[in-house]
Amino acid sequence: MKTNELLLNERNKHIPQGPFNTHPIFAKKAKGSIITDVEGKEYIDFAGGIGVNNVGHCNEEVLKAIQDQIQKYIHTCFHVVMYEPYVELAKRLNKITPGDSPKKTMLVNSGAEAVENAIKIARHVTSRTGTICFEDAFHGRTLLALSLTSKMKPYKFGFAPYAPEIYRMPYAYCYRCAFGLEYPSCEIRCAYFLRDFFQTHISAEQVAALIVEPVLGEGGFVVPPKEYFKILYGICQENGIVFIADEVQTGFGRTAKMFAIEHYEVEPDIIVMAKSMAGGLPLSAITGRAELMDHPQVGGLGGTFGGNPVACRAALAVLDQFEKKDLLSRAEQIGKRVLERFKEFQEHYPIVGDVRGLGAMVGMELVRDRNTKEPATALTKQLVNLCREKGLLMISAGTHSNIIRPLMPLVITDEELEKGLSIIAESLSELKHP
Ligand SMILES: Cc1ncc(COP(=O)(O)O)c(C=O)c1O
Repeated sequence: MKTNELLLNERNKHIPQGPFNTHPIFAKKAKGSIITDVEGKEYIDFAGGIGVNNVGHCNEEVLKAIQDQIQKYIHTCFHVVMYEPYVELAKRLNKITPGDSPKKTMLVNSGAEAVENAIKIARHVTSRTGTICFEDAFHGRTLLALSLTSKMKPYKFGFAPYAPEIYRMPYAYCYRCAFGLEYPSCEIRCAYFLRDFFQTHISAEQVAALIVEPVLGEGGFVVPPKEYFKILYGICQENGIVFIADEVQTGFGRTAKMFAIEHYEVEPDIIVMAKSMAGGLPLSAITGRAELMDHPQVGGLGGTFGGNPVACRAALAVLDQFEKKDLLSRAEQIGKRVLERFKEFQEHYPIVGDVRGLGAMVGMELVRDRNTKEPATALTKQLVNLCREKGLLMISAGTHSNIIRPLMPLVITDEELEKGLSIIAESLSELKHP
């Protein structure tokens, strides 16, 4: 049997350091919310492969769909010979995405690729070049997606020049308000700021798209006030700007609605989704108003692997699982419990500066000082490591890597959830403050 240490040595010898690893362990198997490493140690998974395993590791129904599909055909390329699972999935996504307008969907492979395609479509539709994005945003690592991403180190550093025509404004990050205001007396200044932005950064008539995460994912589970997106969306509509909701991390039920933007009662022009769509297989989607999606010419969009049939079948099974197991209600319950516990932690530990959440997307921001709000980056790392030693896998988030963001599978049992939360409590009490 190869140990974690031995495999780590081999990993370091053969794989560059750039593709990062949070935990120095190697998986042997995974089921539901439990990952077992090659040495036989079991971990409760609060990372979910970065928000991918919402229906649980190796979900039985997803496995059945995959097994059935691989007996038939694995790849024909949708652009060469079409297949039904692609059409079926597009139909389902067109139906479940918010709003009554007729929709169309195209499929690709990753979140970044979905983001790139959404921007391409918006440019084609508007014949404009500019894109507005946000501070603390994460949209992926391919060049255009990376350019839309906010965090410099490690994501962007050394990879310039970035794609042109990208303009960034502050997000509705109430805990660290860019305008120094407080909700609700702020009257959502950060949203109306878009109008000023057209004067100071780029004219509205040059803007093709505004792309925004309904809740920041990598940026640290930041939840904007309820009025925020309606205002942004209204200003986009006034100015013929395509409003793109990046639901790659929020999508498929994480916030207790299928799409987080539903909480804000906005029908985006385009939604991009990926991560949890296909139960762990790589698949992403761009769903938008039919007239926008149909705008680019035949052959203007696509890719060899886009909408792989095995992944499409897996995604259809994932959607069935959401219905059969009522995972949206489960996300609500999980979120309630996590929020409750995190609030308790906030009462006991001064390091917990802010707790916020929507559905099961609940974040805990760690600070060295509650007044200065100095990010507790090293302590967050220490906490994640302590949790691992005690059998809980977590990941952090935030521009300063100081936010704990649980992304547990939504099929997690109450017992596993409680155990995981107790491990966080225990680890918080053991933190060694410098
Ligand atoms: C909101 C958001 N958009 C895009 C991406 C990029 O997705 P991928 O890593 O599949 O390219 C991510 C990944 O974390 C994300 O959270």
